[in-house]
Amino acid sequence: MRKKIIAGNWKMNKTFLTSRELLLEVIHGLSNDVLDKTEVVVCPPFTSLALASELIKDKKIGLGAQNIHQKDDGAYTGEISAPMIKSLNCQYVILGHSERRQYFGEPNHLINAKVKNALKNEIKPILCVGETLEEREKNLHLKIVDEQVTLGLKDLSVENMKNVIVAYEPVWAIGTGKTASPEQANDMHVAIREAVENLFGKETADNTRILYGGSMNDKNASELLAKQDIDGGLIGGASLKADSFIKIINSAAK
Ligand code: PGA
Repeated sequence: MRKKIIAGNWKMNKTFLTSRELLLEVIHGLSNDVLDKTEVVVCPPFTSLALASELIKDKKIGLGAQNIHQKDDGAYTGEISAPMIKSLNCQYVILGHSERRQYFGEPNHLINAKVKNALKNEIKPILCVGETLEEREKNLHLKIVDEQVTLGLKDLSVENMKNVIVAYEPVWAIGTGKTASPEQANDMHVAIREAVENLFGKETADNTRILYGGSMNDKNASELLAKQDIDGGLIGGASLKADSFIKIINSAAK
């Protein structure tokens, strides 16, 4: 049985003060029973990680960052490394998000280097993959996502894969209000699981958690999460409102 994960990607939102407000609301709105059933992760901006770490100290809520550099340290002005986020108790990191691919030009081989660096530092990567609208319209979506999975997970071991989470986020669904239909999403999750099977075998594929992301909200979450191969959600916009995020988590725990 794959335990569902609901992760909130706050992106470049929330100051120190407003992070505190949001996180306290989330903490107070979640029962221990729900937190036993579902893995919950919050990924605030770097500037709120220390605060978040302190606020969730005694809670069953995981902490993630939204990016890291591929090296542990060095002369890379403005960058943040895996050991730095590890020292703030981050157990997860989002890597290869389409906004990093699109706006910061991150190619698959760089994302692969970051995935390896996260694992080396005992941080679980949430590897994001997904096609653009243009790629889907040209019927290239399966090929593109297969490539992103294969290159993103290149040279990893079966042992490494126990700590890897994949997130399917069709670019056309991110922040647009357009969600992939549960069938469209599930079909891609099946294809991703096949790609993982080709690389690491069936047992690893069966155990790998694949999240859906892209305009998931408290209205459509139940239907998406009911699908066989959808093991949770990576939530952007809806994770910035405590009540929506809590409702999504509650529906995952059902
Ligand atoms: P969204 O973002 O839920 O706002 O579409 C999801 C994501 O980019 O992780």
